[in-house]
Amino acid sequence: MEHRLAVTKTAPESIMRPVTVFSRQTPAGERVLLRQLLVTPRADEFTTPLLGGWSAFGSGTMALAAALFFAADRHQPGKSVILPAYSCPDIVAAALCAGLEPAFADLAKEQTGMNLAALHSSRTPGSSVAVLVELFGTRHEIPAHGETAAASRMTLVHDRAQSLAGPGVEVDSAADLVVVSRGRGKPATLLGGGATWARQTDEFSAFANARFPVSPWSAASTALRAALYNLATQPLAFGTVAQLPFLHIGETRLRTLPAITRLPRPWLVHAARQLQAQQSACAARRARTLAMAELIPANRFRIPSDALQTAADEGLNRLPVLCSDAEQAEWLISRGAALGISPMYGRTLPEFLGMSAADAALAFPVAYRFSRTLVTLPTHARCGPPTRQRLRELLRDAQ
Ligand SMILES: Cc1ncc(COP(=O)(O)O)c(C=O)c1O
Repeated sequence: MEHRLAVTKTAPESIMRPVTVFSRQTPAGERVLLRQLLVTPRADEFTTPLLGGWSAFGSGTMALAAALFFAADRHQPGKSVILPAYSCPDIVAAALCAGLEPAFADLAKEQTGMNLAALHSSRTPGSSVAVLVELFGTRHEIPAHGETAAASRMTLVHDRAQSLAGPGVEVDSAADLVVVSRGRGKPATLLGGGATWARQTDEFSAFANARFPVSPWSAASTALRAALYNLATQPLAFGTVAQLPFLHIGETRLRTLPAITRLPRPWLVHAARQLQAQQSACAARRARTLAMAELIPANRFRIPSDALQTAADEGLNRLPVLCSDAEQAEWLISRGAALGISPMYGRTLPEFLGMSAADAALAFPVAYRFSRTLVTLPTHARCGPPTRQRLRELLRDAQ
């Protein structure tokens, strides 16, 4: 299989002018059980292996920023980080918060992740940290890559924000640091939380002394946000609640992350419980993902091969589908948004930092095409047979 890769550094001045882009998606996650947030966990629930080397932070973006601060400290004076050219803009915010300059690597063709085989040979001097992202929960060949990374002394951060990884479940990654998020439309939603796991050290020695800009955690605002989030998962209330500016529900945009909030340890216990419940519902999630995949006419659409594999193994958070061109994707999005069809981020990450579309298409051809032809279909429990039937008709009618 042919892989193409480009690693290009963004010009420093473009980092100063981030483009803010919004897209609103109805939250796909499960409701937050408020009583879980309020009940104090039993003492034995704090022990390993339930929490292992995980540290809790206010969001997945903060968890990633914490990991990057930690990784950057290991690599003085390396001050850049390799990110996939197509991913969630939050990873750029985390890199900038950690004082790292983003460099971008193109995606592997027909897949959702970076071209790992070529990553090391294309490294620029100073880029000693790379973030590998599991888009939609898609699994990648991290173990093999981890061995190569160790040999070349590169620190790998495995961003599993969109997966069912996290405290209480086996880490299952050869990366140095693993990051999860339980915010927004994640499979196991606990609004506004994230966690970081470090291979080398336990959480106290890894993160207790790291030098982050820290902001305090507020139990009241977490509970309020959780209550409003629950309201927003109701289709009729979504329109109103989503307008509340401080909630940022369903938004995808590049925003600055000024400081990192540490969550108290009970949060991890709640997250672990929620995650275990989701893990045990894995078979149902897989069945829903495969039911969605069966709607896709193979002659006009493609599901990236790594996503298809993960769909069959454990199911996905959303099902990525590549259209034959940008017009077809726009047509589907304009007619299918109410059914949960989403373009996700709509553009490549360098474009969020001000790179022109034409330059992005030249530097990152695979990611550029991916960003323009991608639509994602929902796989959460509220997508039953009636929604699937309407999606089937829409996909059949797409030209
Ligand atoms: C791949 C990835 N990393 C990090 C994040 C940030 O997580 P959070 O929304 O909890 O800040 C997201 C958010 O959706 C994401 O998709």
